[in-house]
Amino acid sequence: MADLASLTQEALAEVAACGDLGALEDVRVRWLGKKGTLTEQLKALGGLSAAERPAAGARINEAKEKVQAAIEAHRSALALASLERQLASGRIDVTLPGRGEEQGGLHPVTRARLRIETLFTRAGFDVASGPEIEDDFHNFGALNFTENHPARAMHDTFYFPDGRLLRTHTSPVQIRALQAQGAPLFVIAPGRVYRCDSDMTHSPMFHQLEGLAVDENISFANMKAVLHGFLQAFFERDLAMRLRPSFFPFTEPSAEVDMSCVFCEGRGCRVCKHTGWLEIAGCGMVHPNVLQASGVDPERYTGYAFGAGIDRLAMLRYGVNDLRLFFDNDLRFLRQFRAFGA
Ligand code: PHE
Repeated sequence: MADLASLTQEALAEVAACGDLGALEDVRVRWLGKKGTLTEQLKALGGLSAAERPAAGARINEAKEKVQAAIEAHRSALALASLERQLASGRIDVTLPGRGEEQGGLHPVTRARLRIETLFTRAGFDVASGPEIEDDFHNFGALNFTENHPARAMHDTFYFPDGRLLRTHTSPVQIRALQAQGAPLFVIAPGRVYRCDSDMTHSPMFHQLEGLAVDENISFANMKAVLHGFLQAFFERDLAMRLRPSFFPFTEPSAEVDMSCVFCEGRGCRVCKHTGWLEIAGCGMVHPNVLQASGVDPERYTGYAFGAGIDRLAMLRYGVNDLRLFFDNDLRFLRQFRAFGA
């Protein structure tokens, strides 16, 4: 019989030297497998006397168990080391954004509205709102549209069977704000309005910005300065503004507001139809009948009001040439505004 003690030492040294699980398995087969060196020792027992056999067998089994235990211990150590390596190299970064997630953004019309609100708030105006389903009094009557006034027909109104209607402009908020708060009053009212109209430049739903300033000694010049200041701030450039005489039942005198074209700086281009001017709002001094209908004394107070299209302001600021793009909800269009500031 070979020297069991030195065989065992040799086997243990080989086990200790194994760097991975594959090598360890090779060592196990070589020493403890069916034809392994230690297993082979058992076969030599046949050459021993019956008296010697039990003790020799026991010593061989003891050696095998010792090597087996060393292999198990080494296998656990290797498995643990490999797990630790894996954890160290494949660390989960919990700060990474989730897969398939996309950063959203505000709709360009919303951005324009927020920008408008910021600018007017800085100028001392409050932001007011009113219902989109209106009654005839607030949308027309109190705004000095007399019964059978042709301007009622001009508005292409959507009516409900009970006589109520979808507001055709944000001007009814003038009435509601004056009724609720009285004078003095400085408010803007951005919101959705509806008209039975649809083509390249008209949508049945669009957004208006109403402005109303009522106080003692409010003048036409105040209105002109606020509108010009707003346009310069909104478009961030030094642009010209002019007022053309116009008519609205609820203002007197009334005017259309033009500003120099933001695309050609007034030289003339397709957007301004070669006039150099863009029509941007309607405005005027609040009609005494409107103040009266809202419970404000027209002998004491005067005011100005204006109404502009927010969608149009957004188109001009962001260079969008078709109004319908705002309402198609095509993500390829909307994504372009993700990175925009207001
Ligand atoms: N409400 C008018 C419109 O929709 C705009 C306007 C508002 C004009 C306020 C004058 C004063 O056309």
